[in-house]
Amino acid sequence: MKIRIFDLTRQYQILKDQLEPAVEAQMAGGSFIMGDAVHKFEESFAAYIGVKHAIALNSGTDALLISLRALGIGPGDEVITTPFTFFATVEPIVNVGATPVFADVNPDTYNIDPASIERKISSRTKAILPVHIFGQPAQMDEILRIAKQYGLKVIEDACQAVGSEFGGKKAGSLGDVGCFSFFPTKNLGAFGDGGMITTNDDRTETLCRAYLQHGMGQNGAKALSYLTGAPDELEGTAAPTGLYNPYKYFNYLVGYNSRLDALQELGDPLVALRLERVLLLDDLAVADLLLRHFLAEPGFDFAAPLVGNGLHLDLACETHFPATNRCLSVAYNRE
Ligand SMILES: Cc1ncc(COP(=O)(O)O)c(C=O)c1O
Repeated sequence: MKIRIFDLTRQYQILKDQLEPAVEAQMAGGSFIMGDAVHKFEESFAAYIGVKHAIALNSGTDALLISLRALGIGPGDEVITTPFTFFATVEPIVNVGATPVFADVNPDTYNIDPASIERKISSRTKAILPVHIFGQPAQMDEILRIAKQYGLKVIEDACQAVGSEFGGKKAGSLGDVGCFSFFPTKNLGAFGDGGMITTNDDRTETLCRAYLQHGMGQNGAKALSYLTGAPDELEGTAAPTGLYNPYKYFNYLVGYNSRLDALQELGDPLVALRLERVLLLDDLAVADLLLRHFLAEPGFDFAAPLVGNGLHLDLACETHFPATNRCLSVAYNRE
């Protein structure tokens, strides 16, 4: 029997009757970026993950980038992460000017190995960035213990793990921030790019909302006040009625355009998640069988993980990760 690794048309066919009128209504309403639909989705996503704030934005990559900025990570800092991941886990670390430091993985789960993390901690380490690879959560109890002991932030790359749980809590609710991707092939896929940041911290939420929208308006003013300790100059003032509106247009920080298109959030996206089972690699033997099946498919293309794709050449970083290389040879049939 031919098994397709994913079929993007299947879910669309199931949800078509719900989605098409919602898309038409949104287009007729003329609201295309952020807005009420996005806000409603943020609320239901926060409740689903079990966190105070969910901040929607354009991609998982920018979720990571903006989380790092909001946590104050930049030049001179080191972030410990896994070499067994997609390229986009590490790009944001480099793009904020910090240095990625790779720990090896646990060969049973393909996830970052807490013992290896501990060996990589230096005086410059500011954060640990575990990836819940293939939807299987990393060893979060140990990672959180290490983070607490050394005073480090934890940024969960939950881009592949919407709906996964560790110790009864959802991935993305355990660290300081969780980062999600709604890239169409993810387990909660949009009709294009999309992402989400989750956090319980009000300060982090304000900073993320400011950075994702050019550091402008009320969130920008509040974020600047958090960063500088100066009073929030818009606090308690009445919104102006004239053309110049510092509540909206004044830019308080240099940020990004990482807003989410409203069309990505129509209907109830979490319904889609309930229709799909989150695939966890609980049984590596089954996973191995599936991988071999897909690898035998003509034209099958599986994204190379980080250690195999040259980033380490650019960064001139360590490449000796015995467990990672063992996982690579199993999962990707490579020597
Ligand atoms: C582990 C991991 N991190 C980050 C990303 C980046 O997400 P996006 O494609 O939404 O930018 C992805 C997915 O592509 C991913 O699988």
